[in-house]
Amino acid sequence: MAALPPWGRGPKADLIFGHLGQFGRDPLAFLERCARDYGDFVPLRFLAKRIVLINDPAAIETVLGGGLRDSRKTIGYRTPFMRRLFGQGLLTNEGDSWLRQRRLAQPAFHRDRIAGYGTAINELTATHLAAWRSGEERNVHHDMLQLTTRVVTKTLFNAAPPPEVDEMGAASEAVMHRFAQQLRGFRIFLGLLPSPAGWRFRTVLNRLDRYIYRLIAERRATGRDEGDLLSMLLRARDEDGQGMADRQLRDELVTLMVAGLDTTALALSWALHLLALNPSVAAALQAEVDAWPAEAPPGFADLPRLPLTEAVIKESMRLYPPAWIVGRELLRPVEIGGHTLPAGTSILMSQWLQHHDARHFPEPLRFHPGRWLTGETRALPKFAYFPFGGGARVCIGSGLAMLEAVLVLAQVARRFHFTAPPGHAVTPWPAITLYPRGGIRLRVTAR
Ligand code: HEM
Repeated sequence: MAALPPWGRGPKADLIFGHLGQFGRDPLAFLERCARDYGDFVPLRFLAKRIVLINDPAAIETVLGGGLRDSRKTIGYRTPFMRRLFGQGLLTNEGDSWLRQRRLAQPAFHRDRIAGYGTAINELTATHLAAWRSGEERNVHHDMLQLTTRVVTKTLFNAAPPPEVDEMGAASEAVMHRFAQQLRGFRIFLGLLPSPAGWRFRTVLNRLDRYIYRLIAERRATGRDEGDLLSMLLRARDEDGQGMADRQLRDELVTLMVAGLDTTALALSWALHLLALNPSVAAALQAEVDAWPAEAPPGFADLPRLPLTEAVIKESMRLYPPAWIVGRELLRPVEIGGHTLPAGTSILMSQWLQHHDARHFPEPLRFHPGRWLTGETRALPKFAYFPFGGGARVCIGSGLAMLEAVLVLAQVARRFHFTAPPGHAVTPWPAITLYPRGGIRLRVTAR
């Protein structure tokens, strides 16, 4: 194995597993230690795999902004877990096949199309909130998962959510537990043995598959063009006039659904947690959203009049980025930070580290949405803040996610006030996405 360029030392490695064990045990603490003790370029090893953790925004831009021939996703996106969950969907696909699928899906996310989703988001939010009782304590993370499931299935598939939508919280946690089991790397083989987490994961996935295949079969049977993403993908033909196979359709729909509902629910849940802990920000937010009567919430056209609501979402994703790390593997030698890294090197880039870096954000651990309103964040390097990734593989749903998060938060804050019950403490748990361990339980009071 060729040595990595001499950026200096990295943390002490286990002879066989390298740094995999330390990373798997407590990923966030390990990343923080690496950045604090070893700087912007930290050489690591997972088993025999050479890895560099990059903490410099310009170098992150070189990797994520580079061409498709420079890098592909790391092996973390190709584990048995990821293959079972996402198959060859947009998130895990590569090369020409990815490009073709991305072009097919893109129109569903154009600005004009997204603008039309505002009404559905508002209606689904109002229906969801109607079930809340003033004074009760709720796991708002589960609430947000149910709501975003309804939003994704309505906007992209024009369909009712899966029958198990009320159990979305438990289902999503089952998937995360299974992932965490596999993340503890060298126990990967243990993870393949029968276990409660494995059984729950398979049950959730089988139900999801049944739902998705039913949607595909129903739409094929009616042949109706609903003008939504599902119809777009069904209409698509390759050069030989062939349509997409059910399996590929399933992979795309599951990917969009899972990638879309879990991340957006987290952005909202962490925002509610932070608002409960910061009453002065909550009061300012209420003042902004009170401009609309509860029964006529703001829509897409009102976004420019909701600057603080948007800033609260941005600041929440800064402190608790739903996607906390991304990885790439170099397909050819690439110069990064003044060194040429060989093909085959894996690169890790962490939103958790960049977003908490005092070089970019003064008082980095303070919840301060105002920093997005004063212009102080305007001069940030591009990849100091990258909740949606970047480059060609940037999140396809970022526009929909921001619209949804802002409209839902505006309506929730217009109707309810949140307080943290005694002993409220939430720990971030880095699974596929950054989860609140044990959920976020808040007292909701009608305003
Ligand atoms: C706050 C919400 C969201 C966050 C933080 C987020 C974050 C991300 C990030 C960081 C990536 C890039 C991953 C990488 O580079 O390896 C990504 C990709 C992706 N996201 Fe999102 N996402 C969000 C919402 C959504 C929504 C609403 C959808 C769809 C309905 C979606 C669908 C996807 C897909 C399909 C990809 C893969 C794109 C590709 O490689 O072509 N995401 N997302």
